[in-house]
Parts: sequence; C-alpha cells; structure tokens
Amino acid sequence: MRKITHAVIPVAGFGTRMLPLSKSVPKELLPLGNRPAIHYVVEEAIAAGIKHIVLVSHSQKGAIENYFDINIEIDNQLREKGKDEVADSLNWLPSDVTVSMIRQGRALGLGHAVLAAKPIIGNDDFVVLLPDVVLDPFTTNMSTDNLAFMIDEFTKDGHSQILVDTVADKDVHKYGIAKLRDSIEIDCEASSRNSNASFKVAGFVEKPSLAEAPSRLAVVGRYVFSNKIFDYLSSTTASVGGEIQLTDAIDALISEYGVSVTTMRGSSYDAGDMRSYMHAFIYFAQQQLIEGK
Ligand code: G1P
Repeated sequence: MRKITHAVIPVAGFGTRMLPLSKSVPKELLPLGNRPAIHYVVEEAIAAGIKHIVLVSHSQKGAIENYFDINIEIDNQLREKGKDEVADSLNWLPSDVTVSMIRQGRALGLGHAVLAAKPIIGNDDFVVLLPDVVLDPFTTNMSTDNLAFMIDEFTKDGHSQILVDTVADKDVHKYGIAKLRDSIEIDCEASSRNSNASFKVAGFVEKPSLAEAPSRLAVVGRYVFSNKIFDYLSSTTASVGGEIQLTDAIDALISEYGVSVTTMRGSSYDAGDMRSYMHAFIYFAQQQLIEGK
C-alpha cells in the first residue's frame, strides 16, 4: 500500500465560539504561544510524513493561505537589513511540502468540507486534521505518535483510523462518540495517555446526549481515510444539526470495510473554544518560555 502523503484541513468555519477574537482574524491564526494555532497542526502533519496539504477554505479566510506563502515584501526588507535568519524562519515549510487551497462554497458541514477536497486528492488515501484541535507537541513525538501511528496502522491493514480520547460526561454532547465492539474492553484512561492503541470499532454517534452516548471515547479530530470515504460522503445527507456529518459517512464505511479507532497519546486542546483556547495559550507560552524558544 502506498504511503499516505495528502492531508485535508477544513478551515472554512467561522469560529463563533471565539468571538470577538475571530471577528476579523481567522480563528486558525490566533496565537498559541508564539505561533498561530494552525502552524502546529501543519507541523504535526509534516512530522507524520505529509507532503501535500489541502486547505478547504472560505472567501474570508485568505489570510490563512498567506501565512503559508512567502511574503515577498517582508522577505526583501528583512534581507536588505541583513536579517536573513528571521526571513528564513518565516519560510519554514520544507521545500518538498505543498499547500493548496480549495473553496467549500456553502458551509454544509464537516462531511461536505472533506468532500470538497476530492478534486485535489483524486484517488489517493488521505488524512484529515481538524484545526480547532491542537495536540500537545511538547510531550509527544509527532513523527511516531498519534497521526504518525495511525498512518502506520493504516498502511498495515488498510483500515481507516479515527483518533479518540476519553472525555468527561458533561462533554460527550460536543463530540462524535465511538461505539465499541462487544468483545473489546479497554482501560481507555490509561491506554490513551502513555501509548497509542488501535482496535476495530462498531460505529459512531455524532453529538449524543449523555443517556444515548455509547462510550466516553470522543473523536478528537484526526482521521486517516481510505479513498472510499469519498463514495460514502457523496451519498451522505444532512443529519445532526442539519449538516452533512463525516461520522455518518464513517458509519457507512464501517458496514462494508473495517474502521479502527486509535486511542490518543498526550493531551489535546480545543483552540476553537474560548476557555480551552486560553488554557492552551498559557500552556504553549509557558513551554516556549521554559525552552527559551
Ligand atoms: C467535529 C466532528 C466530531 C468531532 C469534533 C472534534 O465536530 O463532527 O465528530 O468529535 O469535530 O473536535 P465540530 O467540533 O466541528 O462540531
């Protein structure tokens, strides 16, 4: 099986939970410590072997593409002043990594956003990273853990992989929740912290009430997909919240092909939620101050 090198990052969402910060600045460009949130998400993808990143974007989010392009005026000015090191640090994307952009047009849900990337992804398998979710880069190794681990698992057995982590009862209604197979009993709390573990899953329920939640294992926002997901997405209709849900297409994929969940290693932050964002900012800034970066 060919190694996965394509990633889709949906960035078209408005970020109403981050107002007023996100009123005129895309939420993906809000800082976590000394970098915009999406910088870490793209670094994570690159560490896992991704070479081509597709941003599924919106007319008001052009600033995100600019972040990944060379700003030739700033570049020239810095070099004229002999500040080549600063100029080089702005052009940090490796030369073999490409960032492309495609527009979603109508905001019809996460499933719709992922399907919008099909003209660029073509027939390849690919990963999806949700930019609101930022994984802790300080305590995990991005080239072996989480997304990198999931890509390896996919390469072994061809099962699509979904990253999950245990959430508190009060939070299950915010996430896609995994339904485990009867035969599986895992200590989610312990396994999700120290190492990744992967096992087949029976299905997912998108944003259930606590009473309906089949487990406490929530979809974290990292997916490795067989290209077949596009077939299911094209026939998925709107459901929860009136949106075309990625979880519905995954459920359809499970019924014909195996899908596995991978328990997360380390911690994740929801940079699309004000409280979690503020915790994340403090944590990232603190780590960078300690490391002197
Ligand atoms: C999306 C997915 C959900 C997942 C969550 C992770 O929801 O639909 O399954 O658990 O991301 O952040 P959203 O946060 O876009 O409502």
